[in-house]
Amino acid sequence: MSTKNIDWSNLGFSYVKTDYRYVSNYKNGAWDDGALITDDMVKISECACVLQYSQSCFEGLKAYRTEDGRVVTFRPDLNAERMMDSAKRLEMPQFPKERFIDAIDQVVKANIDYVPPYGSGATLYIRPYMFGSDAIIGVKPANEYQFRAFVTPVGPYFKGGAKPVVVRIPDFDRAAPHGTGNIKAGLNYAMSLHPIMEAHREGFNENMYLDPATRTKVEETGGANIIFVTKDNEIVTPLSDSILPSVTRRSIMYIAEHYLGLKATQRVVYFDEVKDFAECGLCGTAAVISPVGKINDHGKEICFPSGMEKMGPVIQKLYDTLTGIQMGRIEAPEGWIHEIR
Ligand code: PLP
Ligand code: COI
Repeated sequence: MSTKNIDWSNLGFSYVKTDYRYVSNYKNGAWDDGALITDDMVKISECACVLQYSQSCFEGLKAYRTEDGRVVTFRPDLNAERMMDSAKRLEMPQFPKERFIDAIDQVVKANIDYVPPYGSGATLYIRPYMFGSDAIIGVKPANEYQFRAFVTPVGPYFKGGAKPVVVRIPDFDRAAPHGTGNIKAGLNYAMSLHPIMEAHREGFNENMYLDPATRTKVEETGGANIIFVTKDNEIVTPLSDSILPSVTRRSIMYIAEHYLGLKATQRVVYFDEVKDFAECGLCGTAAVISPVGKINDHGKEICFPSGMEKMGPVIQKLYDTLTGIQMGRIEAPEGWIHEIR
C-alpha cells in the first residue's frame, strides 16, 4: 500500500525527501558492503574531484505499482550496464551489475510506502549516482568514490502530462563529437542548463539538439531521445555516437516491431526531412513518451499533423503498450520486469 500522505495525482517532477538511501564507498581499490542510511546529507572534502572537476555519473529508472499490486522495476540491468559504461569513460571504478540491481531493490523496498498507487499517474523515480569523493587538485581521477541511490515519487516530467510539447532548435550544442554524449555524465547536464533556461524563457519546453559538427542531423533533447513516425507508420530514431542509449527508446523500438508489427529503424535523420514526418515524441524514463506538437527553428515552425491537442495515433499505441508492460497490464518480454520482493 502507498501509505504516505501525498497527493499522488498532483505530483510534478520534483524532489520529495524519502526515508532511506543506499550508500557504498570505494576505498583502497574496493567497494565496501554498502548499507541503507537515513541521513540525506553528503559530507565530502571541499576539494573532492566531483566538486572541482565534475567527476560524476548517474542513472534514472522507475519503480511501478502494477495492476495486481506488485512493485516492479523496468529493465534495471540495462541501467546497471550503462552506468558501468559511464564510469569507464570517466575513469571511475565500475559498480558491479548485481550490486547495482541489489542496491535498487534495497532502496525501493525500504521506501515501499512511497511507491505511488496504481492508476495515480505517479511513479517512484530512482536516482543511482556515483562521484569522486576525495581531495584532488591536479587534473586526475579521484582515488575514493561513493555510489548512492535515492528515490523520490514523481508525476509527469512535462507540465500538462501527455499534452504535446514545443521544442526549439538551439544555438548551443549538447555533446562534442567523440565527447561524452553517449554516457550519463553529470557534466552533460551542467552544460545544458543555460540552453534549457533560455528555451524556457522563450516559451519552449525543451531543446532539440542537432549534431555539433554539421548542424544538419537530429540528435536528442537535453533529457530524452527522439522518435519520429513516418506517414507510412514506420518508427524512425536518430543514429549518432553522441546520443545517450535510452532504455525507453530501445524498448519502444522492440515494442513497435514485436507488439505492433511496425517497421522500426535507427538511422541518420537530417533536420531537413523532419517536416515530412507525421508524429514526433520524446522518450525517456522521466519523459515516458511525450508527444512533440511543434518544432521552432529560429522562428520557423514545423507543425506535426498530430497537432497540439493530443498524441498522434501511433505514439499513443506505443505509449499504451509501453506503460501497459510497465504496469503489468500487458505481458512483458522475458527479463524486462524485475519484481521487488
Ligand atoms: N537522453 C538523455 C540525454 C537523457 O538524460 C535521458 C534520460 O535518462 C534519456 C535520453 C532517456 O534515457 P532512458 O530511456 O534510459 O531513461
Ligand atoms: C531520466 O529520464 O531518467 C533522466 O535522467 C532525465 C533527466 C533529465 C530527468
